[in-house]
Amino acid sequence: MRVLCFGSLNYDHVYEMDHFTEPKETQSSLSYIRNFGGKGLNQSIALAKAGTDVFHAGRVGSDGQDFIDYLNSYKVATDYLIKDMEQATGHAIIEICKGQNRIILHGGANQAIDEKQIDETLEHFTGGDLLLIQNEISNLSYLISKAHEKEMFIVFNVAPMNEKVFTYPLEKVDMFIVNEIEAAGLAKVATDDIDLIIDGLRRNFPDKQIVLTVGENGSYYIHGETLIEQEAFKVEAIDTTAAGDTFTGFFLASYLKDHNVQAALRLAAKASSITVQGKGAAQSIPDINELL
Ligand code: RIB
Repeated sequence: MRVLCFGSLNYDHVYEMDHFTEPKETQSSLSYIRNFGGKGLNQSIALAKAGTDVFHAGRVGSDGQDFIDYLNSYKVATDYLIKDMEQATGHAIIEICKGQNRIILHGGANQAIDEKQIDETLEHFTGGDLLLIQNEISNLSYLISKAHEKEMFIVFNVAPMNEKVFTYPLEKVDMFIVNEIEAAGLAKVATDDIDLIIDGLRRNFPDKQIVLTVGENGSYYIHGETLIEQEAFKVEAIDTTAAGDTFTGFFLASYLKDHNVQAALRLAAKASSITVQGKGAAQSIPDINELL
């Protein structure tokens, strides 16, 4: 079985702030750094750092060669990553303050992924291969439908959550990975009560596997009547960027080895507890040897 992550790549412009900027306020940052990010790239790097062979498909602009080199330095295969000379690479403006973040996205080349690129990529994959997607690229309905036709196992990290999600053929997804906000959206409940959210997920997606992360309150795996819980590791968060991406990559890497959900949740919780203690996105994701 091969793993294909078809997802976004962003230059992350990260500003450390004294407080989140208010409307009408102008405020200087305490520091600035440009990192490799994008939920797709972060999850490919997390899978690779967890020891899984992964193909990353996506699109960068004329300024995006660095991403190809970066992915290759972690042995991520970039055969289906297109450098589009007419686009700019996607970017994110990230404010960091007291361990929390705020993110503004500009899709750029991530939003130029078309049916042709999807067809040409999926040609190389087959039934039983795994497709991992997030909600930061164009033409997701087409991608989900084509991967389903090929009987690929589809994992959808529903991030960021928005109204477009409900236009996708969600019935063709095999596994959802969500945080509590995304889960409440999928469950269509206006609450932060985790039991009500889980009830709603079960009601709307009774036959799907669902991995739900709740930050410092741990994580859950839900599949019909099955419910498996994992506590979070208590650490002091400096920067939560890419914590969810780390969780996704390490959970899948471990789950694919032996389908032991509890062990996969535990490894993922441990990995993301390390990510939040470092600054930045992809570069704060730990390596499996560091974890073990
Ligand atoms: O999940 C974190 C990522 O979200 C950042 O790297 C940023 O690029 C946005 O896509």
